[in-house]
Amino acid sequence: MTIEEQIRQAAALIKASERLVVLTGAGVSKESGVPTFRDALDGLWAKYDPMRLATPQAFASNPKLVWEFYEYRRRLMSPAQPNPAHQALAELERRIPTLQIITQNVDDLHEQAGSTRIIRLHGKISANKCSKSCQGDPTPVDVTTLTWDEQHEVPRCPHCGAYVRPDVVWFGEMLPLDQLDEAKLASARADVMLVVGTSGTVMPAADMPHITRRVGGKVIEINPSESELTPIADLWLSGAAGNILPRVLAALDEA
Ligand code: APR
Repeated sequence: MTIEEQIRQAAALIKASERLVVLTGAGVSKESGVPTFRDALDGLWAKYDPMRLATPQAFASNPKLVWEFYEYRRRLMSPAQPNPAHQALAELERRIPTLQIITQNVDDLHEQAGSTRIIRLHGKISANKCSKSCQGDPTPVDVTTLTWDEQHEVPRCPHCGAYVRPDVVWFGEMLPLDQLDEAKLASARADVMLVVGTSGTVMPAADMPHITRRVGGKVIEINPSESELTPIADLWLSGAAGNILPRVLAALDEA
């Protein structure tokens, strides 16, 4: 089957769907120039292993190093703009108002593109919170209202004085339960799940397409390479999200 035929098939499945859910990973932001977690390191950070920096243990033993790592990643991400993949998903939500996006990404490019129904499994890198959740989990902290010795210190929670940390899920941490429950419910009600730009290697995010399959839903994958989810995909559209998604949207008009 040619890619054009596959795109038409995907558009027909989406058109006929009652409850469409989209699962996105780092691949959807790749064409925006957002470095993925593993290729974000250069210069000073090249000698560090990100997997060892994004953990509660690393933050406990060296809060300043972990804080600087996230400030570095925020600087890398800030110029990024939504790419045609984010824009196509925002347009899809305008056409299918019940559409929900479950994202593993911590950038805010889906919001910038105009998507509004977003379930965030791994948090948001532009947000910060009290590391002790002193006012509840999470206790958001707006560091722009704080002053601290940026050379030597990490900002402290204005309520309790504990260190402030990025509001992202670190390796070994639980996902926000409300978001996880919402993602599982959406996946269990979906009749079509569009999986875009994820290797499918990180649980429990990668379980969502399996949940949809178990309830008889169809899984459509968009990824230039095979992933751990390709074996359960009813359709694998091999290509870049920024190229394929606008073509699926265009095919919807003909479906
Ligand atoms: N369009 C679509 N997919 C792409 C593109 C593109 N232009 N470029 C790359 N990809 C695919 C890759 O083939 C890969 O399968 O995106 C996927 C990215 O995989 P990962 O880097 O593992 O990202 P992700 O699946 O989101 O990782 C899950 O692991 O790094 C941690 O917590 C972090 O949320 C992240 C989680």
